[in-house]
Amino acid sequence: MRYGILVSDPDDWTARSLFASLVESGAEATFINFSSLSSRVGDGLRLSSRGIDLSSLDGIIVRDLGRSGSQDVAFRFEALRALEELGVPITNSTDSIARAANKFATSLALQREEVPTPRTMATTSLDDALSFVDELGKAVFKPLFGFKGRGIELITRENSGSLAEIIDRQGVLYLQEVVELGVPRDIRAFVVGDRLAGAIYRVAPPGSWISNLAKGGSPEVCTDDEEVRELALRAGRCVGTAYCGVDLLETPEGLKVIEVNGTPSGRGIFLALGVDVGKMIAEMVI
Ligand SMILES: Nc1ncnc2c1ncn2[C@@H]1O[C@H](COP(=O)(O)OP(=O)(O)O)[C@@H](O)[C@H]1O
Ligand SMILES: [Mg+2]
Repeated sequence: MRYGILVSDPDDWTARSLFASLVESGAEATFINFSSLSSRVGDGLRLSSRGIDLSSLDGIIVRDLGRSGSQDVAFRFEALRALEELGVPITNSTDSIARAANKFATSLALQREEVPTPRTMATTSLDDALSFVDELGKAVFKPLFGFKGRGIELITRENSGSLAEIIDRQGVLYLQEVVELGVPRDIRAFVVGDRLAGAIYRVAPPGSWISNLAKGGSPEVCTDDEEVRELALRAGRCVGTAYCGVDLLETPEGLKVIEVNGTPSGRGIFLALGVDVGKMIAEMVI
């Protein structure tokens, strides 16, 4: 069996763990980087990257598609879909990756299954956005396709003027009720198949309330909790991922899900808990 690991950074911790685990299990593994991706049609369909015929692989595990502009992301994604149609198992599935990458699509999926999530508005109307901020007093703005805590801003009645500029630039606003926490932190639960591989707190660095590790957050042990397990598994099922990272916030009404990451890093879980999710994912895929 020969598996591809789709990743843009070959030093990525999770990609390396997947590679090592696949090889350890007796499979062949190869890194694929979509910064070199070609497709030909007209005389049959061919999809290749650095001389590898991608349709010959027994499966592809997606760590990241790599990205620069919207055009090449669309091309990369469409190529992955084509491979899936050709019968190459893609993990996570392209549908679930698309749903997880789009915060509105995730919100809809959570809502559909009544998974608790903070009050949220997605809108192309500046007036509706301003009314929402007015109603709540303040809100968290997130880019619809945001990740690693990038581009997240706190919007208050006082600075809500900045929404006009954001909507001009991005065309859509995704706003969410602020969950106030004494110690700003979230819970990152890592789900593989129907198991909770582990859960960690990510504590925001001093002076910040954004707790992503990429924003300086620190991973800490979070003891396995039935509520975390139940919600994380449900959230993953809503989005349709085979494995995922689920972000939860502790609110006075209980835990609420804010994100399902369909291409999560396993590094934080390994640092805090010593659990190697790469091994679990590789075993599941094989
Ligand atoms: N509604 C919220 N209230 C308080 N903090 C939030 C809220 N939403 C996000 N955050 C903080 O911002 C971080 C990133 O948000 P998230 O929705 O997970 O986006 P990303 O995809 O960028 O990780 C969270 O881990 C949390 O620390
Ligand atoms: Mg997140």
